[in-house]
This record gives sequence, structure tokens and C-alpha cells, in this order.
Amino acid sequence: MPQATFYFPRGFLWGTATSAHQVEGDNTNNNWSTWEQEPGRIIQGQEAGLACDWWGGRWREDFDRAAESGQKAHRLSVEWSRIQPAPDRWDEAALDRYREMLRGLHERNITPLVTLHHVTDPLWLSEGGGWENQAVVERFEKFVRKAVEALKEYVSLWCTINEPNVYAASSYITGDFPPGEKDIKLAFRVLTNMVRGHAAAYRAIHALQPQARVGITVNYRPFKPARTWFLPDHWIANLYSSLYNEFFTRAITRGAASTIIGRVRIPEAKGTQDYLGLNYYTRERIAFNLLKAKDVFARRFFDPHSELSDTGSIANEPEGMAEALNWARQFNLPILITENGVDDTDDHLRPRYMIQHLHQVWRGINNSLPVKGYFYWTLVDNFEWERGWTQRFGLWELDVETQARRKRPSADLYAEICRENGLSSEMVSKYAPELMPIIFP
Ligand code: FCB
Repeated sequence: MPQATFYFPRGFLWGTATSAHQVEGDNTNNNWSTWEQEPGRIIQGQEAGLACDWWGGRWREDFDRAAESGQKAHRLSVEWSRIQPAPDRWDEAALDRYREMLRGLHERNITPLVTLHHVTDPLWLSEGGGWENQAVVERFEKFVRKAVEALKEYVSLWCTINEPNVYAASSYITGDFPPGEKDIKLAFRVLTNMVRGHAAAYRAIHALQPQARVGITVNYRPFKPARTWFLPDHWIANLYSSLYNEFFTRAITRGAASTIIGRVRIPEAKGTQDYLGLNYYTRERIAFNLLKAKDVFARRFFDPHSELSDTGSIANEPEGMAEALNWARQFNLPILITENGVDDTDDHLRPRYMIQHLHQVWRGINNSLPVKGYFYWTLVDNFEWERGWTQRFGLWELDVETQARRKRPSADLYAEICRENGLSSEMVSKYAPELMPIIFP
């Protein structure tokens, strides 16, 4: 059999991504800690609890796993409610703990990418109106200054806000995240304040650290018209894409954006992105449907021929990665794939999913797309928000009761990819032989 390898550019950042609330455990001062106590909010009444016990020190063993398996980068987030437990109080010990973790990454030759806001808010912030209240802009900037000043010795790659589109949609349209609202106008207000908050944070970080590279992450989901011959399907696909995928990045690229819900002009947001953070998981079909007034006249579904993940929440659609990357080209910025992964407890789909998506990334790079890194979601199974512990995205499996970790075959596959800086025919024939005719015909 002929041997071949798809090599990635030298210095490509291979890593995994996590977020504070999902791995740290014992977070008691943010809006999720109270949300998880409310009946019916989290599947089967589950809680983050100890999570992966990183706050208790198990980050060490997990960073060892990352390093031993060839990872060169790790994306994590810091928990605002730990660093600023009350509006007028900073917790220096919490900052020291984060410094220790970041030092721990450097000692293992792993480059950190730090997210400053990943889903959770301090309770005091939520009680003061959260992101609905424009005062959040100043509050967030103040927190960012403090955190960046304390951590900049170890970090120069920052993400201000993770997936503002998911935050606004889940907290204010579907109501799956706190505060559980279903109000599109509020969603728009929150998104607008996130644009302002991001812009303020971007400038604050650069003032403290001129060489910093600062961005956001967007959860990009292609919406494909279900019937190519039916114009209303195209119209609804464009509408969803412009609201979900494009509003935020447009606003921070041009300093202005408009949608059917409203328009914003925030000139200070213009050009506040040094790289684009792209989170891609899956692609959807969308059909115009007059009976679906509640869902803005859309019926959304996965391609019936596609392979679904464990919980049916992700369809394996690698072409969607290519679409996401082609969309990202317009920004003329370096691209980091800041999340990509699949929930798959017994690891039957993950190797295939990973190979097919990385194949698309490699093709994009060969089409001159400036992709500089890839962060698999996630290192160890962690707390998946309203889906609790039912979704297992980890390269390592976690036993939540005992805190024991068990390596999945995908962890070995990913280690081989990271070490080789490429994807070889040998790896494909070992981990997903059924893909050989597709990837190495
Ligand atoms: C993304 C979130 C991340 C994780 C993955 C599965 O939307 O950013 O926290 O939950 O989905």
C-alpha cells in the first residue's frame, strides 16, 4: 500500500480546549451554580459538582496527559467569579492559582490560549442585570484589566468572549442557559453589549500588552437550504446565517451591523480582532415553514443520511468545516480552530470525525487559508452545560464518581497527529480504515 502524509505547516498549534466551569469543580459563586440547583434546568438534575477537579489540583495530571500525547497548546478559561468574588473584591489567591496552572503549561511546553469569558457570569453580575445592562461593559473591562495584568507574564494569546452567539441564543432565545429568557429583543441587547464589552477588553489588553493577540470565538454553523430549488429556503438560510453566524463578527470588523431585529453602530469595535477563533461542530438543513412562527418560520434538521453522535446533537458533516473556513477567509486574519469535536462515549465515531475534519482543515491550508492551530474539544470528559454529563467529548473518559480517567483510542490517534504534525495513511488505516478510499484514494 502506498504511504502518504498530509503535513501541516511548521509551528502549527495542536491542542485541546476546556473552560473553567466545565472542568474546575466547586464553583459556587457564578450563575450556573444556582441554575444547576433549579429543578428541570439540567438533564437528569445533574450538576457540575467537582467536575474534573482541576481546582483541587487534578489539572496537573491532565496537563501531563496533554503533554505526553504531543499537544503543544491548550485553551482554557478563567472564572470571573473566582477572581472577582464581589464588585469591590479581588481574590489574589485565585489569581495565584491560575498563574500556577499557566506556569504548569509552560513547564510542559504547552502554549496557553486564555478565554476571559466562557458562558458563566459572577452571581453579583447577574444580579445587577448581567449582559442586559450596559454597565457590564465597564465591569467586564475592569475584570479584564485585573486578570490580564496578573497573567500576562504567561499568556499573549487571548480570547475575550467565547461564542457570543451561543450565549445570546441559549440564554435569551431558547432559554437553556440562565437566565432562561425567551426574548429576541433582549438577545439583541445582550449581543450588542457583548460587542461593546469585547471592544473595551480588546483595547485594554493591548494597552497592557502591546504584543498580545486578541480575538473572540464564533460558533459557526452552516445552514443549508433544504430544497435548492425553493427560494424561501434560501431566504431563511441566509437570515439564520446572518443572525447566528455573522452579526458579531461583522460588528467587530466594521464597527456596525444590521439585522431584521435592529442595527448597531459601535465605531470603537471596528477592527478589534487579531485572529479569528472558529468553533465548528456540525451543519444543519433548514426549510421555510409557515407553521413554525415560533422558530422564525424555520424547520431545522440534520441531513437524514448523516451519521449522528451519541445524543443526536452533532451530525458528522466534515464539508461544513470547509464551508466554515471559506467563510472565515473574508477577514484576512489568521484563523485558529478553537473548538471542534464530537460527543461519543464508546469512541466509535470520534476517530472518523477527527480525521475527516482535519482532512478538510489540511485542504483549506493548501488553498492558502491561514489556519494556525486546531484545538480539539475536549481533553477529558467535562460538564456539558444543560446536557450535564450525558455528552462525552473527551479524548479521556472521566468517571465522575471516582475521578478516574481512561484513555480512549482517539487520544492515541490525536497524539500521533500532533507528533507527526500531519495525518498519515498509516494512521487512517489504523484508526478508521473505512476512510482510506475517501482520504487516500
Ligand atoms: C461549545 C461550547 C463549549 C462546549 C462545546 C461542546 O459551544 O463553547 O463550552 O460546551 O460546545
